[in-house]
Amino acid sequence: MLTDRFGRNIEYLRLSVTDRCDLRCAYCIPEGFKGFEEPAHWLNFDEIERLLGVFAKLGTKRIRLTGGEPLLRRNVTELARRIAALPGVDDVSLSTNATQLGKMAVDLKAAGVTRLNVSLDSLRAETIERINGKPVLNQVLAGLQAASAAGFAPIKINMVVMRDNADEVDAIVEFCLQRGYVLRLIELMPMGDTARKMGYVDLQPIKGRLQQRYGLIDKLLPGGGPARYLGSADGRFSVGFITPLSQHFCETCNRVRLTVDGQLHLCLGQEERMDFRALLRDGASDDDLIVAIHAAMDLKPERHEFREQPQKLVRFMSMTGG
Ligand code: GTP
Ligand code: 5AD
Ligand code: SF4
Repeated sequence: MLTDRFGRNIEYLRLSVTDRCDLRCAYCIPEGFKGFEEPAHWLNFDEIERLLGVFAKLGTKRIRLTGGEPLLRRNVTELARRIAALPGVDDVSLSTNATQLGKMAVDLKAAGVTRLNVSLDSLRAETIERINGKPVLNQVLAGLQAASAAGFAPIKINMVVMRDNADEVDAIVEFCLQRGYVLRLIELMPMGDTARKMGYVDLQPIKGRLQQRYGLIDKLLPGGGPARYLGSADGRFSVGFITPLSQHFCETCNRVRLTVDGQLHLCLGQEERMDFRALLRDGASDDDLIVAIHAAMDLKPERHEFREQPQKLVRFMSMTGG
């Protein structure tokens, strides 16, 4: 079992399989951004499988594939299959923008991906184009349908609530209610200037309003993330709140992040990291990797400082995968 200096058990690894994306969500990648990792630096599948196998031996049970957009990494279903087969890993999930789901949902399911989280910030075509950078609403809706048809259930919908879409929360609640999706409302995190300019919205008043309107009660849902859930008494609808700013959850943090170029980030909101690409390519043994993983846990910060130091992080969300 991996434990950090604050007694937190680390059993969830978020693996970014690419830092590229077909969209340009304004809170995630700045328009015109060119600083993507070069392919020579990407961990290959053998390197990923080996390193995650060591993590799994040390108690990592959950792996989530992220990006950028993870479905853009060539043969990602093959990678998912290899990860799902690792002894000790019992939860392989994926966070996606859904543009490629129409053609990939069936293969992902067959590869052993058990849970899908899909970004959807609006149901208005023009708002999607403005926030997410491309007119992809219909493609995303088709991707969601393909995921349901492939048997993914429940599907979680991630909506980052900000100035431009805060008036659409109720419409998205209704959309998710009708289709049986679990909605998660997410507070905007100030990752880089691009995110800081989108207009933060505090979710606490929205939570209170939805709770009243739908008679929601506390609920526990499967997953390893920081969402706190409310649900309707009849069990038909659940909504999660991810509130890093208004009510942070760092004391229960159970995760670390591995980027496409093999950097292990110990906190989404801080700079501490360890370079596993260098270790892997310098011939480290499994024992060397174990020593390095334990040393990395000792670097894990207590908490982010998004509130106290909102200008601190220049890194964009696409680099670490949320
Ligand atoms: P589940 O296992 O389904 O609960 O997944 P998840 O909610 O951890 O994953 P997802 O990729 O869907 O993330 C949803 C949102 O939560 C994203 O905006 C993430 O950036 C955010 N998030 C996930 N983990 C953390 C974390 O450790 N700290 C902060 N501040 N935000 C996080
Ligand atoms: N703040 C909050 N959530 C973000 N995401 C991307 N950038 C940000 C940000 N600045 C979310 C995406 C996706 C998830 C993986 O991360 O919307 O749902
Ligand atoms: Fe791409 Fe996801 Fe970032 Fe949007 S949030 S630009 S879909 S990686």
